[in-house]
Amino acid sequence: MKIDSFEAKNIHIFGGSSGIGLATAKQLASLGANITIYARTESTLKEAAAEIEDHRMDPHQYVSWVSVDVSVPEDVQQAITANVDSFGMPDILINCAGRAYPEHFEAISYQQFEETMKVNLFGIWNSIQSILPYMKEKGGLIVNTSSVVGYVGVFGYTDYAASKFGIIGLSEALRSELKRYGIGVSVLCPPDTETPGFEIENQTKPAETKAISEGAGLLGPDEVASYLIKGMESGKKMIIPGFDGKLAYYVKRWFPAVFEFIMDRTVLKAQQKIRQGDLA
Ligand SMILES: NC(=O)c1ccc[n+]([C@@H]2O[C@H](COP(=O)([O-])OP(=O)(O)OC[C@H]3O[C@@H](n4cnc5c(N)ncnc54)[C@H](OP(=O)(O)O)[C@@H]3O)[C@@H](O)[C@H]2O)c1
Repeated sequence: MKIDSFEAKNIHIFGGSSGIGLATAKQLASLGANITIYARTESTLKEAAAEIEDHRMDPHQYVSWVSVDVSVPEDVQQAITANVDSFGMPDILINCAGRAYPEHFEAISYQQFEETMKVNLFGIWNSIQSILPYMKEKGGLIVNTSSVVGYVGVFGYTDYAASKFGIIGLSEALRSELKRYGIGVSVLCPPDTETPGFEIENQTKPAETKAISEGAGLLGPDEVASYLIKGMESGKKMIIPGFDGKLAYYVKRWFPAVFEFIMDRTVLKAQQKIRQGDLA
């Protein structure tokens, strides 16, 4: 599903108050889109909405914000219904809300696993369930944010990888179902990206995870947003920003043994350094 123009399109962005979601909202506003951002914290939503307004092409474009927890289905339903009543039918849904608290498997509590799944995976389920009846009327596009960790199981990300691999499966099955309504489903798989969420992620990363992360590049949220917008314009189903993410995707797919060898070697080297006292 290619998007020819974003002008006057009604775009809903979950997780639009920070990081990749906010950068995307600003770029889309500069291309003429009407934007609604959803997140939990009112203060950051208000600040983000003001920033997005500053990027508008035309002052008639609306920018709206809604405080909602994406993991609560009835609240998401209510928020989307109220928005459609006020601003009309949705054209594009971008699911960008997410969280990551990397740790060794045994240090991840059942509660953490549950919360990660509820926000990252069930949250996407909730927003799509709520918006679909409206989107079916004239077609549209759904973009779900997974991660490089949605196709590579990286050390330290057991709960996060479960949620992000799940997003790719959900999206593929849904794409097949929604074609008949003229609705496309794409997946965004960012690599490490310098955002407030990434800073939080870095606080709990095991040394092995840090070693893997340091071997790959770091993008800025604006770069990821530009890749996403180009991907929507060209109708890409898997949008993988940057060289390293694409390399990992193809090497893992075509040479899985080589990929595993490289990952194992990085982990072993980090573990040797930990034993020698060179790493925490
Ligand atoms: N940054 C990276 O390195 C990276 C790499 C790969 C994939 N990703 C994925 O990209 C997406 C965006 O990441 P980011 O780094 O830009 O994150 P971020 O800066 O932490 O922003 C996350 C956004 O999601 C919202 N959010 C979090 N929990 C929510 C909930 N329960 N209900 C509603 N909104 C919620 C946050 O607002 P509130 O906290 O106020 O709710 C915020 O607007 C995530 O899905 C993440 O997993 C990020």
